[in-house]
Amino acid sequence: MQDRLELPSGFRWGVSTAAYQIEGAVDEGGRGPSIWDVFAARPGTVRDGHTGAVACDHYHRYAEDVALMQGLGLDGYRFSVAWPRVVPTGAGAVNAAGLDFYDRLVDALLAAGITPLPTLFHWDLPQALEDGGGWLNRDTAYRFAEYAALVADRLGDRVPAWITLNEPFVHMVYGYALGIHAPGRTLMLDALPAAHHQLLGHGLAAAVLRERGLDVMIANNLTPVRPATDDSADVAAATAYDALHNRLFTDPLLLGRYPDLSAFGVAQDFGGAVRPGDLDLIAGPGLDGLGVNYYNPTRIAAPIDPGLPFTEVPIEGVPRTAFGWPVVPDGLRELLVGLRDRYGASLPPVTITENGCSVADEPAANGSVPDPDRISYLAGHLDALAEAVAEGVDVRGYFTWSLLDNYEWAEGLTQRFGLVHVDFTTQRRTPKASYAWYRDLIAAHHARHTR
Ligand code: BGC
Repeated sequence: MQDRLELPSGFRWGVSTAAYQIEGAVDEGGRGPSIWDVFAARPGTVRDGHTGAVACDHYHRYAEDVALMQGLGLDGYRFSVAWPRVVPTGAGAVNAAGLDFYDRLVDALLAAGITPLPTLFHWDLPQALEDGGGWLNRDTAYRFAEYAALVADRLGDRVPAWITLNEPFVHMVYGYALGIHAPGRTLMLDALPAAHHQLLGHGLAAAVLRERGLDVMIANNLTPVRPATDDSADVAAATAYDALHNRLFTDPLLLGRYPDLSAFGVAQDFGGAVRPGDLDLIAGPGLDGLGVNYYNPTRIAAPIDPGLPFTEVPIEGVPRTAFGWPVVPDGLRELLVGLRDRYGASLPPVTITENGCSVADEPAANGSVPDPDRISYLAGHLDALAEAVAEGVDVRGYFTWSLLDNYEWAEGLTQRFGLVHVDFTTQRRTPKASYAWYRDLIAAHHARHTR
């Protein structure tokens, strides 16, 4: 049972959110347009034409949301800073009102006993930078480091650890290769420079944070990759997929080199994007922690499409979330143990920076929101995490996705991931059964370790 969960005494409990998914107020307080405002306004891009213009209205309701977090007894809160709120055109003029908002949020968190863990980029690039090529343009990495410096200068006296990027893999693939997310480019493998420039931006920003005595993390979307069969063609395909999804975003940080992408027929310098010295800039500052966002494993077979060296195939015989994602809690143990085995002493302490599931939650007649599927998802994954810790992996915290039902990117407002139900018409927040469950779990952990 969860009240017996064996996790270290300093283990940190949190929740995660992201700016565009909760803030709303896109035209307020001097914020500039982001690629998501522009993309979501384009017909056919987002389910039901939803945009993040209001989302959870967190910009105005942050005090209520911090109170909800305080009610959970959280140690930490992972949120993202909206670059276009702070630097409306991505470079140059700073918007004081934008920095003031995050300043107030940080103070409210600290007053509630919660350590802020900001992410500097969770996909909402200022549109002005996209107009110059976005992450395909090397220059964006340098603008990112400048923005990191000014946010750190404002908040670094109260915020000890920072996450540079959220899921550069998903941003590259969905945003630049497949066009499912903003900025909606469909470049397939020509999107690889967007991976490199994000990682370069990470390295430059990491140096800036380090100079200020701050801890540096990144939040990567990682997945254990399982070959569909033992057949060598399936195994080779799985190896290729693993290089693209996982190693491309961890090897340069932890080993100072890119993985072999020859199965994709791409040059190791991604068509000239990787310049001499770049890998030193990426790996040089080091990482104080690796953030891992885990949702599910991936099953891979030999290619059927000649354009790619793999095919993704369904994982059979397991429950699925409302999104249709397979529920495989042991995949988290497999992933964590696999990271430790792959990187050994080069692996910094890990924090789970996202894990959760979408459920079609609606309030019952008595106003409560029962969500047993979410509780069972979270409980299963925490058991798997505890097993990885028992197997010797250094995991320091768990931040569930998400505090609130929110704007789920191309799915608009249709996928509910929150511990707290949000009525998007009234903005009424109703804690779900999983909220009480998580609160009790955290309280039991704290009680066990202060005894
Ligand atoms: C992202 C979140 C997203 C979640 C659920 C992650 O890929 O970082 O922004 O809402 O998964 O899809």
